Amino acid sequence: LASIEVDVAAVEPGMSLTVKWRGKPIFIRNRTEKEIEEAKAVALGDLKDPVARNANIAADAQATDIDRSAGQGKENWIVMVGSCTHLGCVPLGQAGDFGGWFCPCHGSHYDTAGRIRKGPAPQNLAIPTFAFTSDTVIKIG
Ligand code: FES
Repeated sequence: LASIEVDVAAVEPGMSLTVKWRGKPIFIRNRTEKEIEEAKAVALGDLKDPVARNANIAADAQATDIDRSAGQGKENWIVMVGSCTHLGCVPLGQAGDFGGWFCPCHGSHYDTAGRIRKGPAPQNLAIPTFAFTSDTVIKIG
């Protein structure tokens, strides 16, 4: 199947859901205010990978929190391919030095916007093509 629809109505702030899409895990997280604030507070100059890596916007867009999230009014949602950009292990959620994701294979730490902050991974976690088709349904792909 090229695309899937996911109902996220039951995913409260602070909760995540992992679904499979094209054989890969897709992380969907409803971020808390604190997680959003932490991500927003990071200076772009401190990022190892300054590019948004978001398939829904320009390829050279910067990795600001808003452009890593589902966008205006939906900043709490983050949707990412759950595949470490180092060698493809599946990172663990709410883990690591930056409170986002941690890849246990070789120690890559991602922040609450899924941006690589420490460790060998070269890029931010990829954001697939997706869109909200209603307030509570996300179409991926
Ligand atoms: Fe994630 Fe190497 S595969 S750190």
